[in-house]
Amino acid sequence: MKRSTITTAAALLLLLALAGCQGGGGKEDAKATAAGLNDGPKAAESLTLDEGLASWGEQIFKDKACVTCHALGERKQGPDLAGVADRRTERWLKRQIMDPEWMLKNDPIARGLMAEYALQMANQQVKDAEANALVQYLLRETLAGR
Ligand code: HEC
Repeated sequence: MKRSTITTAAALLLLLALAGCQGGGGKEDAKATAAGLNDGPKAAESLTLDEGLASWGEQIFKDKACVTCHALGERKQGPDLAGVADRRTERWLKRQIMDPEWMLKNDPIARGLMAEYALQMANQQVKDAEANALVQYLLRETLAGR
């Protein structure tokens, strides 16, 4: 009888400890959101256009099937990307392009867009260098559309 009480108490303590760890993880995510990925100068202000990278980005935009859901100057299944470099920071864009699942969990803008479009952006396994090129392409189009 006494022994089982001790076991129960130990199990409870373990559960509490586990819950504590999870709570900590949640706080980390909340901090990342609060830090504001989209705070500060937007991509069009902070970046310098690199025409070569932008052309590569345009090709990747087709190869990675971004074109199936996005256009510039037209709403398809996903948001119209015209002027997006004036609305988002470089950090925000790269994270959205490389890790859309994380954004849906942690970023209020991405969550809002998902609600509006009733669709989740697919992860296209974009590498870091490719994401830079895609951002340059979006930058080029944003500047051209001003
Ligand atoms: C299956 C359709 C789909 C594909 C493929 C897709 N997207 Fe998206 N994209 C979305 C949807 C839906 C959203 C908004 C909701 C969300 O974030 O999931 C979005 C959001 C975005 C945004 C933010 C738009 C804004 O107004 O801030 C960017 C930038 C973006 N996508 C770029 C890309 C790029 C670059 C690719 C290719 C690597 C790509 N997307 C592939 C559907 C898609």
